[in-house]
Amino acid sequence: MSLLIKGGTIVTAVDEFVGDILVEGEKIVAIGQNLNLSAEKVIDAAGKYVLPGGVDQHVHYSFDFKGQRVRGFETSNAAIVGGTTTVIEFVNQEHGKGIAETIFEYDKKEVADVAMVDYAYHGVVCEPSDELFKEIADLPGKGLPTIKLFMAYKGQPYHSDDEALFKALKAAKEAGVTVMVHAENADVIDILQKECLAKGLTGPYYHAESRPPLVEIEATQRAIHLAQMAEAPIYIVHVTAKEVMETIRNASNNGTPVYGETCTHYLMLDKEDLAKPNFEGAKYVCSPALRTEKDRKALWEAVNQGWLNSVSSDHCGFNWQDQKHMGVNDFTNIPNGSPGVENRLGILWTYGVNKGRISRQRFVDLYATTPAKINGLSHRKGHIGVGYDADIVIYDPNHKSIISAETSLHGVDFNIYEGFEQEGKVDKVLLRGKLMVDDGLFIGEKGDGQFVPGTAYGLCYESLKKEKQAQPVNV
Ligand code: URP
Ligand code: ZN
Ligand code: ZN
Repeated sequence: MSLLIKGGTIVTAVDEFVGDILVEGEKIVAIGQNLNLSAEKVIDAAGKYVLPGGVDQHVHYSFDFKGQRVRGFETSNAAIVGGTTTVIEFVNQEHGKGIAETIFEYDKKEVADVAMVDYAYHGVVCEPSDELFKEIADLPGKGLPTIKLFMAYKGQPYHSDDEALFKALKAAKEAGVTVMVHAENADVIDILQKECLAKGLTGPYYHAESRPPLVEIEATQRAIHLAQMAEAPIYIVHVTAKEVMETIRNASNNGTPVYGETCTHYLMLDKEDLAKPNFEGAKYVCSPALRTEKDRKALWEAVNQGWLNSVSSDHCGFNWQDQKHMGVNDFTNIPNGSPGVENRLGILWTYGVNKGRISRQRFVDLYATTPAKINGLSHRKGHIGVGYDADIVIYDPNHKSIISAETSLHGVDFNIYEGFEQEGKVDKVLLRGKLMVDDGLFIGEKGDGQFVPGTAYGLCYESLKKEKQAQPVNV
């Protein structure tokens, strides 16, 4: 099947021009202006933006918090309707199993037949045995070039201590695997949570009070120091606070290969949302906690300047009525995480691009191109170029809507952006050449998504260090 997308404004991370794209089967085969080529199907994209499909490198379709599990890949039509064509899912290593074994069993049982977007995986270290550290060397060969460790969540099976993190960094460096960390000081949080509860402070607001920015700052500094001692690159997920971003920026400017992402909700929402009455605040319980206007401003500047490399959703489909309410008498039992995969593009476009905080090129880089690179998918994903997968979003800028749980597909009973205006609409989405979204409506099928093996990005310490040292220093 051949398809010609005609006359749209094509936006990449580096340029923007009115042009045509020819798709043959699953791939982009030609890009040009006034392409004099015929195709079986033609899409007129005049007046619209033609963007690479989004890559959301931080989603949870299998996360478990104290026995509460998120909605799975059966809700991944929400991702593609929102303009994301590839998600990267965190899979917790199961008891007594290796990372690859856990991931591919999960893939077979719960993902391959239902996914409606392409996907890749990060393995989460839960049992840091010698065997596991040996396994890290084999992961890139299986298309799994990234692992994650949770410094937070004391008492949960996925919490890791410094010994595990340091050993993982050393093993990962040898293998060309990128280590991602959730950086918060778990012991301090545990003490602060107990202090709140002992004083009868049990509501959602105390989630934030017991996780102040310093727990994130301290853990980020520690993670970076561990990475420096292991001479390994490190990637800090969901950065929320100004000082955390500055820590990463300073270490990076001093030649350490440290990278960071933030998430849409940290750019948009506030700690005060946790104080909403009638337990509404529980909808906003995620970790690290939401911060303040000062932090949001700093994060927008950081994503614009490249001090943080990508914007993810950290999507977690927990229901408010029956799942978030587990913590109605004790905020420490509120499942951590909120949905957002459907709204990432619309929010970044409306409140980033249209408010002049980031350019369209920077937007594409943050939501597609760099996340593809970091995760070893940039040979196929995150860019509009000849030879790339035909994952394409046609965005109609002349449209306004109001975000609401009622019209969301993520399968839960709330939306953290309820009532926010969205400018523009994801009109059409192609996934490897197949039209999955038409006039904003999902028309694909379960199982259309495929596993995309990642290649070792080669966050090779020595070469990256040299590259960084050669760059001018931002102060
Ligand atoms: O609150 C969050 N972020 N939940 C998902 C798990 C994690 O920490 O990334
Ligand atoms: Zn996390
Ligand atoms: Zn997460």
